[in-house]
Amino acid sequence: MDRRKFLQASTLTAVAGALSRETNALAAPKALNDRIQLGVIGPGSRGKEVLRQMLHVPGVEVAGVADVYEPRFAQAEAVAGHALFKTKDYRELIARQDVDAFLIASPLALHREHLLAVLATDKPVYCEKAVGFTVDDCHAIYTAAAKSKSVLQVGHQYRYAPWILASMERIRKGEIGEPTHVYAYWHRNNDWRRPVPKPDPDKKLEHLINWRLYRETSGGLVTELGVHHIDLANWIFGGQPTHVLGTNSIVRHRDGRSVGDNTQCTFLYDGGKRMVFSSLTDNAKQGNEFWVYGTEGSVQFTIEDAVFYYEKKKPLPKEVNATVVEHGVETGASYSTGNEMPYRGPGDKVQVTYVDPTLACCSAFVASVRGQAKPAANIEVGYRAAISCSVAHDAVFTEEKTAIPPLPSA
Ligand SMILES: NC(=O)c1ccc[n+]([C@@H]2O[C@H](COP(=O)([O-])OP(=O)(O)OC[C@H]3O[C@@H](n4cnc5c(N)ncnc54)[C@H](O)[C@@H]3O)[C@@H](O)[C@H]2O)c1
Repeated sequence: MDRRKFLQASTLTAVAGALSRETNALAAPKALNDRIQLGVIGPGSRGKEVLRQMLHVPGVEVAGVADVYEPRFAQAEAVAGHALFKTKDYRELIARQDVDAFLIASPLALHREHLLAVLATDKPVYCEKAVGFTVDDCHAIYTAAAKSKSVLQVGHQYRYAPWILASMERIRKGEIGEPTHVYAYWHRNNDWRRPVPKPDPDKKLEHLINWRLYRETSGGLVTELGVHHIDLANWIFGGQPTHVLGTNSIVRHRDGRSVGDNTQCTFLYDGGKRMVFSSLTDNAKQGNEFWVYGTEGSVQFTIEDAVFYYEKKKPLPKEVNATVVEHGVETGASYSTGNEMPYRGPGDKVQVTYVDPTLACCSAFVASVRGQAKPAANIEVGYRAAISCSVAHDAVFTEEKTAIPPLPSA
């Protein structure tokens, strides 16, 4: 094992250990040396990646896949490195005795159907985010999960990223004072469209492949991209937002899509706390940035690191505060860099060993299947993020302040 892999492996053990300390054993876990055979529903872009990462976790194998799009079968077999059971009907995969645990990575609008069917088996399941599409879907999924004995982990992989776990601990200890605001961005410069490989007069393939671009199957940018940020804001502020206000429009990609190519939303949390989310597809300047602002400092998360900054406590140098006398008139030099731009400088980068968050998330799922932990990204986490997105996605069309339903009493 090379040094990078060794460091990743020991960090993964530490992350799994930290997550398991607060947890109880599961009802009927897999033994430590038992193989775990996965069944994958929807091995598309994300499903193949999560499968690839799962297969790096010791003891995990894949038994079969279900997908309605034929080319996925050969692609999934290539990832697995061997022949698999393959079906276009996910119910045939769910019925198989040789599948121990499921991965659901189908399009958002199908999560309810696929997840409810898996939860009925009481077998463990990793379901990609957002866990549910509509408000009704989120409620049905939450209720079914509460009744099921399945281990359910939602694909909120940043809950497992070492630099975010370390930052959360520092935030919890008060290092940036009281967190009051989150500003989150996911800005890109692309059309968010996937190529359709063959002539498609009835647009069936277009809708199967580009389901994200159509309102009947997609929660738009606030759901597909913002759900990660909303989950982190929920973690920081506790609970979930009570209301959301938002807007969206098509400013560049007038190609028949029915979701916005940009959106801006403000999520209202108790105590006057706020999260502001912006997503663009015509300018990538901000990239994927997540800022937590507290009364004594700030922290910036990206998808690979975190940096702390502190509010200036020490008095400013005399010349910065100095008044200016010109033409015999005294003016205050109030707009100085020292006063208005206190964040110039490198900040305090969180020092952790990088582990791919999806790999960490897969390892934690397997630890849960083996009874060593309970998922940190559980159904409560998944519900709170998904319901916020679901309501937000309507609110950006109505442009009205809209209430977000709280966690149901299951
Ligand atoms: N956690 C993350 O960072 C992350 C990243 C990307 C995507 N995702 C999530 O993963 C999910 C899938 O996204 P994607 O980009 O892989 O989409 P995708 O379209 O590439 O993959 C979805 C797959 O599901 C298949 N499918 C469609 N209908 C089906 C049915 N009835 N039965 C079985 N399979 C069916 C499609 O053919 C496709 O292969 C979404 O929920 C998305 O939000 C998560």
